Amino acid sequence: MLQSMRIWGGERLKGEVSISGAKNLALPALAAGLLTEDDVILKNVPNLADVQSMGNLLSHIGTDISIAGSAYSMSTKDIRVFEAPYDFVRKMRASILVLGPLVGRFGKARVSLPGGCAIGARGVDLHIRSLEHLGANVSVDNGYINADAPNGLHGGDIIFPTVTVTGTENIMAAACFAKGTTRLINAAIEPEVVAFADLLSKMGANISDSGTPIITIEGVERLHGCEFTIIPDRIEAGTYAIAAAITGGDITIRGGEYDHISALLNFLRMADISVEVSQDGIRVSRDKDVPIKGVDVQTAPYPGLATDLQAQFMALMTLCQGSSSITENIFENRFMHVQELCRMGANITVHGKTAIITGVSKLTGANVMATDLRASVSLVLAGLAAGGETVVNRLYHLDRGYENLDQKLTNCGAIIERIII
Ligand code: UD1
Repeated sequence: MLQSMRIWGGERLKGEVSISGAKNLALPALAAGLLTEDDVILKNVPNLADVQSMGNLLSHIGTDISIAGSAYSMSTKDIRVFEAPYDFVRKMRASILVLGPLVGRFGKARVSLPGGCAIGARGVDLHIRSLEHLGANVSVDNGYINADAPNGLHGGDIIFPTVTVTGTENIMAAACFAKGTTRLINAAIEPEVVAFADLLSKMGANISDSGTPIITIEGVERLHGCEFTIIPDRIEAGTYAIAAAITGGDITIRGGEYDHISALLNFLRMADISVEVSQDGIRVSRDKDVPIKGVDVQTAPYPGLATDLQAQFMALMTLCQGSSSITENIFENRFMHVQELCRMGANITVHGKTAIITGVSKLTGANVMATDLRASVSLVLAGLAAGGETVVNRLYHLDRGYENLDQKLTNCGAIIERIII
């Protein structure tokens, strides 16, 4: 049975929202449990469909997991299989994150290729090439990546031609046990990558300069268990900031890191949205009479505007005074929300990787279809600002990445309900 969300738009959202743990750190951190036979305890793990998918995959591989609230305790004494089957990977691309830990610790892995994705080609060629560079034999057959390193990996210089978040994480995990020195050049510097390096270091890895484009890893013999807390989800924080802005509301975001979304918050200020930082958190507000100014933005690797906030920012810009342009530099097909926003009255044209948004005075509720996680939430945001009733279909996308979205929005005065169609 498919769930949908019915939204009665027009309410100004007011109140406080507490930010959950970051999905994009929880997933690699869970996979890192494979790197040791000791217990790894992760705290502040968000309750999300993607996290459950990763848990299922790890259980399939051989990890014992016990969950108490938002704490996950993992222990991987023995491996049952070295394989991430297609059925797991097709549901969640981030399953690829078991590849590095398996090859690193056990010298062996078979992981299904992720295949097509709604937002673009999203290859994993860089993961494969980097493992080869560290001495693994890698072949691709029957839709699977087979990696083999019977004598273990050795260090080397890996140069990433494009910044890749999961690629950096996968190879960093694999290189923990590689003999000698590994350098990841043009590595991702996203906060989740830095926190992931912190976790591995806490487990005994020898990693320096994470958060810079050249990360150095000295191989060690073994890693041990530890306790680690997942950092707040910056994309969730940014989404609620935009929820305040688009509804002419006033939301204090608790537990979000200002620095992690400073690019977004600067663009919001340029759009005449008020952003204040205090001990209570990040307060984002707009008087409904103050028009939203059109701003031209581009997505970029951190610290630029995250591609994972592009759809939400576009929802806001549909109501701007004048026009706005949004250029998507990370994924080539990440404008699936455009047509749906247009069905709600937005005026958007796409020219290659740039969308031109001519502001309209109001959006109107409609039946819309979510195509991926961030596109779905952009439609929810548009629905919150639109006149009348909006129904966002295929809600399962949202449940992959937003913990308690309904509750958090309702607490701020949104009128929404889940329905089964
Ligand atoms: C991660 C995030 C995702 C976010 C994205 C960009 C997780 C679980 N997911 O995805 O939410 O939208 O970063 O910040 O953390 N590329 C290749 N070959 C590769 C790897 C990547 O061509 O082997 C390309 C991709 O197609 C894309 C770009 O590099 O154009 C960036 O992708 P990448 O950073 O790897 O995205 P993900 O790690 O999949």
